[in-house]
Formats: sequence, C-alpha cells, structure tokens
Amino acid sequence: MSVTLRKMTLDDLEQVVAIDQVSFSLPWPPRSFRFELTDNPASRCWVVDMDGLVVGMVVAWLIVDEIHIATIATHPDFRKQGIGEKLLSHTLQSAKDEGAVSSFLEVREGNAAAIMMYHKFGYVESGRRAGYYKDNDEDAILMTLTMLTR
Ligand SMILES: CC(C)(COP(=O)(O)OP(=O)(O)OC[C@H]1O[C@@H](n2cnc3c(N)ncnc32)[C@H](O)[C@@H]1OP(=O)(O)O)[C@@H](O)C(=O)NCCC(=O)NCCS
Repeated sequence: MSVTLRKMTLDDLEQVVAIDQVSFSLPWPPRSFRFELTDNPASRCWVVDMDGLVVGMVVAWLIVDEIHIATIATHPDFRKQGIGEKLLSHTLQSAKDEGAVSSFLEVREGNAAAIMMYHKFGYVESGRRAGYYKDNDEDAILMTLTMLTR
C-alpha cells in the first residue's frame, strides 16, 4: 500500500467534504473548501492519500508568522493509525519552513482525542471562548504552540 502526504487539489474535494461531514457536527459548506483551494492565498491544505483514497485532511492558514489550524480530520475508518499526527506534523514543519514561529487553534472542550494529540505536539491551553460552538453551546479551548526556531 502506498501512503502519501500531498497537497489537496480540487479533485479531492468530494472525498474531503465527505470526511468533514462524518467528522464534525457543524461541517463546512463544500464551497468553503473550494474557496480555500482557489481563492485564499493564506491557505495551506494537505491530504493523506492511501492508494488514491483520501483518508485525512487538514486546512491551515499561514498568517504572517503564525499557522492557524482551521480544520483537521481523519476518516473514521482510519483513525488511531498515525494519520492525524502525520498531517499535523507536516503542516507545522512546512509552515516553519515558510517562517512560522507559532501555531494556534480552537478545539471543543469535550474533544479529548484532538486535545490529546495537540498536547502531544506541545500545544498548551491559552484561552477559552464560552459557548463558541452554536450547536450545543460548547466552549472552545484556544491552544497555542510556540515552535522552537533554530
Ligand atoms: C483528532 C483526530 C484528527 C486524530 O486523528 P488520528 O488519525 O486518529 O490521530 P493519530 O492516530 O495520529 O493519533 C495521534 C494522537 O492523538 C491522540 N488520540 C487520537 N485518537 C485518540 C483517542 N480516541 N483517544 C485519545 N487520544 C487520541 C493520541 O495522543 C494519539 O497519539 P498516540 O497514538 O501516541 O496515543 C481524529 O480523531 C478526528 O478526525 N476527529 C474528528 C475531527 C476532529 O475532532 N478534529 C479536530 C478538530 S479541533
């Protein structure tokens, strides 16, 4: 089996949207992914591809020297196999190569799996937005990572 981490393309949209829809209670409208690929110069979009099947995706925004993780998900059938870690690690390394010195994201307070992953990378809680998620009024935890520069 060939596992590749590569840039997301418009040909991936259908599979990326499908992963988004099974992964989040408030998925993005499909046009948002198209916008990220075609119209947002800050956007850095990657997928993990297994023999032509898209099994994970990430969209991040590089804003000056900060990389903001906008969304990241692994298809439910392929979780706990290191794909999320591969996506995040590549996103951070590649942003670092472009000059990023820190990373930022928001995560639902009850999303233990994601929070564990972010802690593993060294993200720390830096704030909270009360009732940020409108479907269930859940708080968002803001997490920040200061990337060591050489
Ligand atoms: C969060 C998510 C992207 C992780 O993807 P994944 O491919 O399963 O992650 P990995 O296999 O690379 O795991 C990386 C680390 O995440 C943590 N983790 C992942 N799944 C976990 C779980 N079910 N319970 C606890 N920790 C978990 C662990 O720290 C793991 O490291 P370990 O294997 O050494 O224990 C995935 O669960 C997902 O798509 N969730 C739905 C979408 C989502 O919530 N995205 C984050 C939005 S902020």
